[in-house]
Amino acid sequence: MHHLLILPGDGIGPEIMPEVRRVAEWFMKRGTPISLDEELYGVASWKAYGTLMRDATWEKIQKADAILFGATGSPEYDEIPAEHKKHDYLLKMRHELDLFTNLRPIKLVPGMEDASTLRPEILRGTDMVIVRELTGGLYFGEPRGIEVDGAGVGRAFNTLVYTTEEVRRIARAAFELARSRGRRVCNVDKSNVLETFRFWRDTVIELHQSEFQDVELSHLYVDNCAMQLVRRPAQFDVILTENLFGDILSDCAAMVAGSLGMLPSASLGARLADGRRHALYEPIHGSAPDIAGQSIANPCGAILSFAMCLRYTVGALEDALWLESAVERVIARGLRTADIARPGSPTVSTVAMGDAILQELDAHR
Ligand code: IPM
Ligand code: MG
Repeated sequence: MHHLLILPGDGIGPEIMPEVRRVAEWFMKRGTPISLDEELYGVASWKAYGTLMRDATWEKIQKADAILFGATGSPEYDEIPAEHKKHDYLLKMRHELDLFTNLRPIKLVPGMEDASTLRPEILRGTDMVIVRELTGGLYFGEPRGIEVDGAGVGRAFNTLVYTTEEVRRIARAAFELARSRGRRVCNVDKSNVLETFRFWRDTVIELHQSEFQDVELSHLYVDNCAMQLVRRPAQFDVILTENLFGDILSDCAAMVAGSLGMLPSASLGARLADGRRHALYEPIHGSAPDIAGQSIANPCGAILSFAMCLRYTVGALEDALWLESAVERVIARGLRTADIARPGSPTVSTVAMGDAILQELDAHR
């Protein structure tokens, strides 16, 4: 049995995650070995309990086999006193659960060509995964801080640091993933300027030489990669990159898929002694406070993130494929939430999109 903890979070999170729950319950009824629990997270937790993170919730987070996360971020954080906001709990979860492998698949769902700002002939064939290192680099490097010296001169600093082992384990994840796909890894760094990336690239090359010569390895500087992503996105199979670059490039690449609302992600930890690995699944679109509360958010990214959970945590590959194809069939039928609609065409609500996906799940089984 796999214990899943739903954290709807902020913004549109509480609108999209009930659709994920309905889909998860559909699979439970058919015997997929999962159980569901749910806790308030973020502003909702603050309002209910006067804290952003209860000890009881944190305990559940550490015990869960996987977290199904909605979104974080809201203007309402401005009203919460600073002493309650010492942690960003999403970053804390990534760090404490050691979720170093972030997988961001970017695939053009057939029929979605119109929703992208790029021309259809540029998009055709796009099917890549960005493998982003998620627990190191500038996000977590020490020392970090902002200081003012005696003369009143300010200074701010962060540290871009990676150890051999940190680079090796994320590179290994990328090479192994490539073996299950197109066998091509493009390593993205900035080794023409920064020592950290010279070290990063050398470490990737060394691992490739010793264990993964059956995978094709190429290299791009990050600025060139950003350009190539919009120039010819179909050239990529697996992109391997560090934390901050992965953050930036994945938003850029997302436009290729037409909408942030369609895209899932998985954050996976190292295997523990008992064979389990911590995991967190979340759509990449974020909390979208501008459309929160209107029941128009697209639940597909969150539902496809649950499909990744079926694949990587539950090991139910057939269920995952079934769910992914149900979403694709709904899109192919022309159902669109507002974010992916053609101008002037009718749109459906968050719940109606969930309904349609459930009907598709039922229809062909
Ligand atoms: C992401 C987000 C996060 C990040 C934020 C919410 C901290 O942009 O997952 O890409 O920067 O990693
Ligand atoms: Mg981001």
